[in-house]
Amino acid sequence: MNDKNLSGEVYYPGKEIIDNATINDWDALNKKANEDYLGFWEDKAKELHWFSKWEKVLDDSQKPFFKWFTGAKTNISYNCLDIHVKTYRRNKLALVWEGEKGESETMSYYRLHQETCRFANILKSMGVVKGDRVTIYMGRIPEIVIAMLACARIGAIHSVVYGGFSVESLHERIEDSQSKVLIVADGAYQRGKIVPLKDIADEALQRAGGIEHVIVVRRTGQPVNMEFGRDMWYHELKHLPIATNDCALEIMDSEDPLFILYTSGTTGKPKAILHTHGGYQVGVYTSLKYVFDIKEEDRYWCAADPGWITGHSYIVYGPLLNGATSFMYEGAPNFPYPNRYWQMIEKYGINILYTSPTAIRGLMRFGDAWVNRHNLSSLRLLGSVGEPINPEAWKWYYKTVGKEKCPIMDTWWQTETGMFMITPMPCVPLKPGSGTKPFPGLQFDILNEAGESVKSDEEGYLVIKNPWPSMIRTLWGDSEKYVQQYWSKYPGYYLTGDSARRDKDGYYWIIGRVDDVIKVSGYRLGTAEIESALVSHRSVAEAAAIGLPHEIKGNAIYCYVILKSGQTPSNELMEELRLHVGHEVGPIAKPEQIKFVDSLPKTRSGKIMRRVLKAQELGLDPGNLSTLEE
Ligand code: WT7
Repeated sequence: MNDKNLSGEVYYPGKEIIDNATINDWDALNKKANEDYLGFWEDKAKELHWFSKWEKVLDDSQKPFFKWFTGAKTNISYNCLDIHVKTYRRNKLALVWEGEKGESETMSYYRLHQETCRFANILKSMGVVKGDRVTIYMGRIPEIVIAMLACARIGAIHSVVYGGFSVESLHERIEDSQSKVLIVADGAYQRGKIVPLKDIADEALQRAGGIEHVIVVRRTGQPVNMEFGRDMWYHELKHLPIATNDCALEIMDSEDPLFILYTSGTTGKPKAILHTHGGYQVGVYTSLKYVFDIKEEDRYWCAADPGWITGHSYIVYGPLLNGATSFMYEGAPNFPYPNRYWQMIEKYGINILYTSPTAIRGLMRFGDAWVNRHNLSSLRLLGSVGEPINPEAWKWYYKTVGKEKCPIMDTWWQTETGMFMITPMPCVPLKPGSGTKPFPGLQFDILNEAGESVKSDEEGYLVIKNPWPSMIRTLWGDSEKYVQQYWSKYPGYYLTGDSARRDKDGYYWIIGRVDDVIKVSGYRLGTAEIESALVSHRSVAEAAAIGLPHEIKGNAIYCYVILKSGQTPSNELMEELRLHVGHEVGPIAKPEQIKFVDSLPKTRSGKIMRRVLKAQELGLDPGNLSTLEE
């Protein structure tokens, strides 16, 4: 894709970038991968270790329940750790970590392997066996990585709950996953304050049964309640004789579950996306290697949270599969000052920074001086993920942060896809706001209601036409919903839930979600979660939530509430409801504004028509109203 005849505003990579890139002929790679995508993925799989080889690369005999590398035996934890410990990478830094207070910690592959084994042995001693679920609820500290790898090692299925979620979100995820063990930190630092994770977990555990053991990792050190017989300190367990440095790993079938990760989809409760050992590792390994062009000497920083798929794939598994050095920072981008990111890039010599449009917009508003105080010359590549990046933020990132020499990898993907799906590579000419083209071997289309491909520049539903190794396998515990949500609108095609257009150069432009998902600061929330939090408050009868454009967050949550009779609207009540949503779902879900109303637009079957509310707020045409009740 080095075509100089592209139209619109195009940024071409410098010669040095192209010369040094692993992939410098995107077209050739794409052609090869598209001619034989199974051969392409098979070649990539061969770069990883398997205890025994697959019989088939893809088994599509039970569509849409696709299986990859069937018959093969593997364990992702082996490919992340054991493999490297046998080589010169034994002494290489796997993790570099900085705490919000400025302290730092580094961990070689040797040590990470050892810590993982000890944690795995602790889990084993608690009776955790292959297939059991373990919920992990922590901030961005090294132990979260260790805990995930430890689960993978013994074949337990981890379910990480983002530390920014609160009581009800944690409760429903613990309950739905039927986890036996909860791994939690006492607290997390967030802008100088402590988020009391253990207290939140205690409240969630009062609502949920099933957890037999709680492993508590000390981070913030404030006093916490420790329930006798249930709760145990990690730092104490770690020194017990059972926590040896060596832990035999479970040989996993390629299709054995690796993790579940809850995410919001169309209507109803969050659903557990299931990923497996074999295919997931191939997709994540290959995509990170090609897109961020990981070099042996790089220090790579994905500034997301391990509690979301971005962190799973590109803080933990992707970098470790590649034998890379992954940097993780505990705190907020602007704490104590808005130069925090730039300071750390300089201090650690970060070469690749992967963050979100929200973070970029948030830092941009503090002006260039904060950036310019720092030497950012180590940077080679930049990345963006989570929501569409507006060209203004893109250009600021490109010029002020990247000094016009670092291409921006705007990666479109989802919890369900496991890996980057629409993305450039360093050698690809960029257009600000477009993720360029599908990753080699993937076939996308944009369809209208009737299922026909739309013309260039027309908007439609973004779909994926062929399978890929790191794709969602099912919704854990609800395979019917899996088929219905992703494969029923256009049978045979995976429905992304996004609308998009494709320009005449074949570049994709994501417009946004077309379902009941709201992307707030890149975080994925469902209208249903917010609404059910509101109606769980004693004064609320009915509620509707919508997303409206917000300068920094991309979208902000606006709610409409019908009060129960006898309740009177007031500013105090509005504030109480906002806090209630924060307490139940998490601070990220706190509505920007709540309006008290007497009725909500509904269909005759009683479904709230959120698009009507949205159109009203934006002064737009509400579209077809034939199903409106009144
Ligand atoms: C949704 C998936 C997997 C990355 C983290 C989010 C939106 C994601 C982009 C991008 C425009 C993007 C889409 C997608 N999205 N990346 N580069 N440009 N939109 O994962 O929480 O599962 O959310 O995030 O709407 O469907 P997620």
